[in-house]
Formats: sequence, structure tokens, C-alpha cells
Amino acid sequence: MTEKAQIGVTGLAVMGRNLARNFARHGHTVAVHNRSYGRTKELVEEFGHEGTFLPAESAEDFVASLERPRRVVIMVKAGKPTDAVIEEFAPLLEPGDMIIDAGNAHFADTRRREASLKERGLHFVGTGVSGGEEGALHGPSIMPGGSKESYESLGPLLEDIAAKVDGEPCCVHVGPDGAGHFVKMVHNGIEYADMQLIAEAYDLLRQAGGHSPAEIADVFSSWNEGRLGSYLIEITAEVLKQVDAGTGKPFVDIVVDQAEQKGTGRWTVQSALDLGVPVSGIAEAVFARALSGGADVRRAAAGKLPGPAAQTGAGGADLRADVEQALFASKIVAYAQGFQQIQAASAEYGWEIDPGAMAKIWRDGCIIRAKFLDYIKQAYDKDANLQTLLVDDYFLDAVSGAQEAWRRVVALAAQQGIPAPGFASALAYYDGLRAQRLPAALIQGQRDFFGAHTYQRIDKDGSFHTMWGAERNEVGA
Ligand SMILES: NC(=O)c1ccc[n+]([C@@H]2O[C@H](COP(=O)([O-])OP(=O)(O)OC[C@H]3O[C@@H](n4cnc5c(N)ncnc54)[C@H](OP(=O)(O)O)[C@@H]3O)[C@@H](O)[C@H]2O)c1
Repeated sequence: MTEKAQIGVTGLAVMGRNLARNFARHGHTVAVHNRSYGRTKELVEEFGHEGTFLPAESAEDFVASLERPRRVVIMVKAGKPTDAVIEEFAPLLEPGDMIIDAGNAHFADTRRREASLKERGLHFVGTGVSGGEEGALHGPSIMPGGSKESYESLGPLLEDIAAKVDGEPCCVHVGPDGAGHFVKMVHNGIEYADMQLIAEAYDLLRQAGGHSPAEIADVFSSWNEGRLGSYLIEITAEVLKQVDAGTGKPFVDIVVDQAEQKGTGRWTVQSALDLGVPVSGIAEAVFARALSGGADVRRAAAGKLPGPAAQTGAGGADLRADVEQALFASKIVAYAQGFQQIQAASAEYGWEIDPGAMAKIWRDGCIIRAKFLDYIKQAYDKDANLQTLLVDDYFLDAVSGAQEAWRRVVALAAQQGIPAPGFASALAYYDGLRAQRLPAALIQGQRDFFGAHTYQRIDKDGSFHTMWGAERNEVGA
């Protein structure tokens, strides 16, 4: 009998190739296929010795080489190519087979695809994969959606190739249909926020602290040993240490200051707007990238808008410690908001996502991997229905302890004219949450005035309207 593959990967650019190699290195026989056969051939020629690959030139041969139920991983460009590949493979599959989309699809597309393939008796598993090409090869964080039944058959293979923390895989069944891709999207949104906050910390240390990139690299390295310890802090130190070979200048000074984005941050904010969840940290990060990229607007304004010249040493001797506190507190806010978005979507779509399990599978393999995620997991272990991470003991202690420094840093940024939208909006969110009364009462009054939108009273049940244009007496609505 000819050997069959446990899993197949179609789409063998950098991500698909590395995922296929990861499966093979774990002893699984892997069928491999790509639209253009060249990539398939290359993979087998270069890495064939790493395991057992069954290369196929046609979709038919690829499907025929898979054991049943067939597990077909699609790793192609997200969007139309994913639909094209699904349409190519679905007719060749049989009920009970699985199509696993491991690309960066929008969760709404995943919901649509899952519903349509379900009608054809096929499982569609939208799967978030984080960690870039290195993660795909050495162990990513994997966030599969789809049915429980599909996870029973697919889960063990994914868990095999996922990153491990204390022997536990960074892979769990997130929830049905688009839950996996949703959580991956929020992961990326949080990543945007984390990167923005780190960038603001650097900017404050550079402009207000007067430190060189090399000195700031040392600061980040030391922070990496503490509670901020994470992949992003670690690579920040590496980037800041880098010296440009051509000019001898710090690398960070020769790079154009316009951050690009592929879209998952924007998707996160769009979804948060629909869900009504204030993910201000992620939104500020997306907007900060957009502002940086708006070269024409910046050129028109940069020389004209007045502001204070940042004064070196303005932050005083405690600036480093203050910025560490502000960074940690703002990071807590960004994660709290992201987790709140996951919980809101879970309720909206009936996904029953366990937020603690998400923190657990992000502890390694992915870009936001951090020590800190252990505390998030513990917080949800203690209370699965936690309204916000900010009220968990650990995080409450951290933000309470950070408060004074956090306020000093935000004030310093404003006084010195250093943009710190992430720090400032995180603090504003924090103050919004802790307020006993918000000025939203006034907004309700305005809405009732111009649109008779009604309001509720603090002292009586029901809805009310004031006759603003007449006697201004109040009527029940
Ligand atoms: N790169 C990362 O760090 C990263 C991280 C996480 C997730 N992802 C996601 O993983 C997926 C793959 O990423 P990637 O960077 O490896 O590859 P990519 O550049 O996004 O896509 C290239 C692959 O898609 C195939 N393809 C494009 N259009 C196609 C079509 N109409 N029909 C069939 N195949 C088509 C290409 O085949 P040909 O060789 O024939 O052109 C090639 O195999 C994407 O969804 C990406 O967003 C990427």
C-alpha cells in the first residue's frame, strides 16, 4: 500500500513551507502542494531530508495522497486566493474532511466559509498562526477555530508542532467558526499597542531623558529581566543597539519614520467599534502608524505648528523608573481592553472562548509572548467572568503602584511636546473606568435636547424626556 500523509499543506511560500517542515520534523508524513510546482520541488530538494514529504503537482494527486479524514492546510495569500483555493479543493474532498485556513483571514470571511463548507459536509477550520516564519518552523502559537469534532482529529497534530511552555502546547481549540481568526486578529491588535507603547517609552527616554539609542538599549535589556520581560522588549534592545554599517549612525536614526501596517490592527479596531468595546490603546497605535505614514500632512505641518522644544533632563533623575511604570501600566490597559474585546465577541457570536486559555497559548511562539501573560491566565483562572483585568489583584496592585509615575510621564510628554498617545489614552481610560460620575450625563442631556433621544434618571426607573422647546417640564417616555 502506498504511504498516505497525515496532513497536507498547499501554499508553500515562507509560512506554508515552514509549517510543512515543522510537521515533517515531528515525524508526520506531509503532502505538499503549491499553485506553481517550482516551490514544491524546491522544498523537497532543500529540506526533503528533514522528514517524509509527498510532493504533488496537481490538486487531485495531493488529495489522493492524504489519509482520511483528509486534513488540508491552506497557507496562501489571504482574501480572494483563499477562496480560489477552497473552490479548487472542496470538490475533491469528501464529507468529514477538513480544510484548515492558516492564513491571516478576516474572521467574518472565516464565518462565511465555514457556513458554506458545512453545507457540503466539510469542516472548515480557520486557524490563527502567530510567530512569523521562525515560529512556523520552530513552534508557533496556534489558534484554531472550527468545530470541536474537527479539533479532535486535527488538534493533536497542531499541538505537536506548536510552541511549548513547561511541556504544554501553545495551541487550544478557541471556539467555533471564526473564533480562532478573531483571537489571532486581537493578538495582532494588542501587538500594535504594545509596540506603540514601547516606541513612546523610547521617545521619552531619548527626547526628555537625552539618552542615546545604545543607552536606551541597555535600559530595555534591564527591563527585559523584570516584569516587562517579553519578546518585544528583547528585540527592541537589539534594534536600538544596531549601528548602521554604512554611516556609523544608530540604525534607528537612518530608518524612515513611517510605520507600515498590513491591516490586522485596523480590523481589530473596526470590530471593536462594532462591538462597542473601547480598545483605545490599539486604536491609538493604528492611528499613530497612520499619522507617521501621512508624509504630506506631516511635511505641511512640521515646520509650522508651534510647540515647546523638548528639554533634555526635563524628566529628572527618576525618568527611567517613571517610564517603566507608565509603560507597564499602559500595557496592562491595552491587554485588558483586548481581552474585553475577545469576551464581547465571544458573547456576541456564542463562541464560549476561555480568555485564560488565550493568555496561556500566547506565552510562547507568538510576537506578544511575555512573562506577564502568566498573570493574565491566573487572573482568569481565579475568575472566569472577570469584567476587566484591571481589577484583578496583581494588575490592580501594578496600576495603583504605577499611578503617580504614570501621571508624571503623561504630563511630562504634554509639557515637552512629545507625542505619547498610547500612554495618555491608557491613563484616560483608567481614569474613565474609576470615575464615580462621567460627563456622559451631560451628553444624554444634549441628545435629549436636539433629538428627543430620552434619558434615564438616577432616582427613578423608566425613560424620560424634557420638553426643551416649551415649559421644560419632564415627561415619561
Ligand atoms: N509572513 C508571515 O510572517 C505571516 C505570519 C502569520 C500569518 N501569515 C499569513 O500566512 C499566509 C501565507 O503567508 P506567506 O507570507 O507565506 O505567503 P504570501 O506571500 O501571503 O502568499 C504566497 C502564497 O500564496 C499562493 N497564492 C497566491 N495567490 C494564489 C491563488 N490565486 N491560488 C493559489 N495560490 C495562490 C502563492 O502561490 P505561488 O507560489 O504559485 O505564487 C504562494 O504559495 C498569509 O495569509 C499571511 O497573511 C504570514
